[in-house]
Amino acid sequence: MGNETKKTVVNSWNEWDPLKHVIVGRADGTMIQAPELAVQREWPEHGFTSGKYGPYPKEMEEKANEQLDNLARILEQRGIRVDRPTPIDFSQAVQTPDWVQETMFGCMPPRDLLLTVGNEILEATMSYRSRWYEYLCYRPLLEQYFKQDPNFRFEAAPKPRLTEGTYKRDFWKNWKSLSEEEKWKKAEENDWIPTEKEPLFDAADVVRCGKDLFVQKSMVTNDAGIDWLQRHYPDHRIHKVWYKELTPWHMDTTIVPLRPGLVFFNPVRTPLEKAQRELFEKNDWEIMEAPETVLEKKRPMTFCSLWLNINRLVLDPKTVCVEASETPVIEMLDKHGFEVIPVPFYEVSPFGGGLHCGTADVLREGTLEDYFPKQVEGF
Ligand code: ARG
Repeated sequence: MGNETKKTVVNSWNEWDPLKHVIVGRADGTMIQAPELAVQREWPEHGFTSGKYGPYPKEMEEKANEQLDNLARILEQRGIRVDRPTPIDFSQAVQTPDWVQETMFGCMPPRDLLLTVGNEILEATMSYRSRWYEYLCYRPLLEQYFKQDPNFRFEAAPKPRLTEGTYKRDFWKNWKSLSEEEKWKKAEENDWIPTEKEPLFDAADVVRCGKDLFVQKSMVTNDAGIDWLQRHYPDHRIHKVWYKELTPWHMDTTIVPLRPGLVFFNPVRTPLEKAQRELFEKNDWEIMEAPETVLEKKRPMTFCSLWLNINRLVLDPKTVCVEASETPVIEMLDKHGFEVIPVPFYEVSPFGGGLHCGTADVLREGTLEDYFPKQVEGF
C-alpha cells in the first residue's frame, strides 16, 4: 500500500491559521460569458453590448496570469505548496438534458467553487449555467489529494438543475425598472434572483471562523442552500447573514476576519441581521471599519466592486497578503502588528476578484476551535 506516502493533505477550519498548501487560479481562456437567465454582462464601451460574448482580450489575460504566477512564486518562496487548476476550453457550449449554454466562464476564482472545512473539500452547487462544469478544472487536483490523503473527504453538493424554475422570472427586466428606493427595499427583504426550488450556493458566500460559519443569502445562494449547508455540517453553527447591499454575491469583501478577535466590516454594507455585530462584540472581537480603496474607478470589464482592497489572503495570524497599492489597508494592518506582504493583483480583478477569491485553501495547520463561545439567541 505504500503507507509512507499517505499523509494529511487537506485540512482548514478558518481563514487565518498557518497556510501550508493552497490552490491559485488561472486566467487562461476566461470568457465574457454568453447571456443566461442568472447573469448578463454588458460593457458597451469595450464592444460587449447586450447579448455579446467572447474571450477577454489576450493582453488582459496575460497581465492577469503574470500576477497570478507572481503570487504563486511569493507563496512558494515562503514554503507554501501551490497547485493550479487545469483550464478547459471555456469558449465551448455546454449542456445538460435541461438546457444549452453557449459558453463557460473560466477558472480564476477557485474560492467561488471549493469550500474547505476540516478534512473535506466540498464542490459548491454553483448557480450559473456558465459555471456548472467549472469543477472539472479542479478534478485533477482533488483526485490526487484523494489518493494521497486517506482521510480526505472528497465531496460535491447536489448538482442543481438550473431550469427556468430556479430563477425568478423577469428578475433583471423588473430590476431595471425599479426606483433606487425600491431596490433598497429588496435588500431589506433579501429578495434576489434564485427561487427556493433547489439548494444553491457558491462557496464564496461562506466565511469560515472555526465552529461558526457565516453564510450570505445572495444572487447565487438561496435559503435552501443555507439549509443544505446546515444539514451537511451538523456540528457547525451556521449564521445566515445579510447586508445593506444591492445584488449581493460572495462575502469576502463584506466581513473579512484576519485572526481570532480581529475583523473588517464593510462600512457601507451594514449588517441587516442586528445580532451579527452583537455576536462579534460579545466575544470581544475588534471590528475595524474597512478603509476605502485608493482606486478612483474599477478596472475595465470588472464585475466586482471596489472593495477588493480588503480581499486579503491571510498566511498566518501575523502575516497577510494585501493588494500592493492599497496603502490605507496596509497601514491599518501594520498598526495591528501584521507583517503585510504587498502583492500586485489588480490586473486579476476583471477575472473574478482579489487575493482571497483567486485562491482556495487546501491545508492550514490548526484544529476546529470555538471563537464565539457566547452566542446570540436566535442567530
Ligand atoms: N461581491 C463582492 C464584490 O464585488 C465579490 C468579490 C469577489 N469575490 C469572489 N469570491 N469572487 O465586492
